[in-house]
Amino acid sequence: MAQQSSLPLGIDVGGSGIKGAPVDLATGQLTAERLRIETPQPSTPEAVVGVIAQIVDAFADQVGPTAPIGITIPGVVMRGVVKTAANIDKAWIDCDMEKLVEDRLQRDVVVVNDADAAGVGELHYGAAKGHEGLVIMTTLGTGIGSAVIHEGRLVPNSEYGHLEIDGHNAESRAAASAKKREGLSWEQYAERLSRYYQFLESVTWPDLFVIGGGVSKKPEKFLHLIECRTPVIAATRANEAGIIGAARMAADAQQVRGRHTA
Ligand code: BGC
Repeated sequence: MAQQSSLPLGIDVGGSGIKGAPVDLATGQLTAERLRIETPQPSTPEAVVGVIAQIVDAFADQVGPTAPIGITIPGVVMRGVVKTAANIDKAWIDCDMEKLVEDRLQRDVVVVNDADAAGVGELHYGAAKGHEGLVIMTTLGTGIGSAVIHEGRLVPNSEYGHLEIDGHNAESRAAASAKKREGLSWEQYAERLSRYYQFLESVTWPDLFVIGGGVSKKPEKFLHLIECRTPVIAATRANEAGIIGAARMAADAQQVRGRHTA
């Protein structure tokens, strides 16, 4: 039980919900049901940080006072500073979120792109575990997020959802939201995905594609319809991968900081 008091917490900030849970890094399991709070509107930094503090408080018994917090954001994050903001208030742009949350919570905080965190979650505890070489995870949701992992190391902020393909921003055609918006059948959607992955593999030459996001819960509907050279598999941690990956990244960063200050 003593060990339980220092579990890291992962928090996933999305356009509609902010979700968090403590994570057992030995197993990659959430140790409690995740808490979801509606994203405040407008989703300004102050408002979102308030919700983050609420989630941390809710798990205080498991997380302990020095445990690190990993947070994901749907945008580019460079050394804790948010550089783009998809589906959240534009006031986030250029905000040093890591510092903002650290000052508020007085804890070690790591802020990362949502797809990067999901990629790290799948790498350590999900579909990408044990795969060598270049693995590209894409999350198909409102937009398309991407995580590039080479030999187990993340190359952050790849933003492959914004490739221009056939004159379109890729995510406007191939995100899961496009399927819904345009009423596409799975066959029609798979055609969009085939074009997307064919283009992506022609500029990256990966060993494996991992598809995450909500659609990864229904791989039998479309995975076999995707035509590209690279093997394609579905993520196995679905919407938990971001929370798990963020917690893992926060714990790893805390260890490194500890070594530097020791
Ligand atoms: C953003 C990415 C994000 C993805 C998924 C894209 O529109 O540019 O940073 O990872 O959506 O949320």
